[in-house]
Amino acid sequence: MKNIDHLLENNRRWSEQIRAQNPSFFADLSGQQSPKYLWIGCSDSRVSANTIVGLDPGEIFVHRNVANLVLHTDMNCLSVIQFALEVLNVEHIIVCGHYGCGGVRAAMEPRRHGLIDNWLRQIQDTANLHSAILDGIQNEGEKFDRLCELNVIEQVLNVCETTIVMDAWNRGQELTVHGWIYDLKDGLVRDRGISVDRELRMHELRDRFLPTSKRSARFKAL
Ligand code: CO
Repeated sequence: MKNIDHLLENNRRWSEQIRAQNPSFFADLSGQQSPKYLWIGCSDSRVSANTIVGLDPGEIFVHRNVANLVLHTDMNCLSVIQFALEVLNVEHIIVCGHYGCGGVRAAMEPRRHGLIDNWLRQIQDTANLHSAILDGIQNEGEKFDRLCELNVIEQVLNVCETTIVMDAWNRGQELTVHGWIYDLKDGLVRDRGISVDRELRMHELRDRFLPTSKRSARFKAL
């Protein structure tokens, strides 16, 4: 059996370093956490929430899955959002996608990848919804980048459209949902300028990005 003792050794060293800087760090944290941020990001090993934004343990609540998707039937993600909002009272939800996302790439490919194709299905819906934008881009790399960005926008809207977030806004809770995209090539986050802090802004965001032809169909039931 191959062991991974070096990880345990890393852990011991890390714990010692933290306690050397602040002897009560773990004792203080073990009482309770009070993060201000919920991070919803990709499982990609290169996109680590705490590292990218330079936050310590206890400062950011994290949910990650392949391609940073927020599906309304995903009890795991919805439970994280509810806990973050109603118990931890986070003030910001950050949806952080990234360029070069393998999940987004897989969703664009015509071949099968197995079970995960079902998970990634929504990205194809996003591509169909925004086909007018994507079809106008000839360069495949640019098209891929644009779909990574559109996926973030759709997931921001999905977060906003949950009953949990709508209820929070209705009762006057301070909450802003942000859409970021991380570039693996330079380690920098781009804020897409699509922050939403109330229901009205959510509709404005939808209006800004949803093609007019598809908007009426989507909101016909409202
Ligand atoms: Co990814």
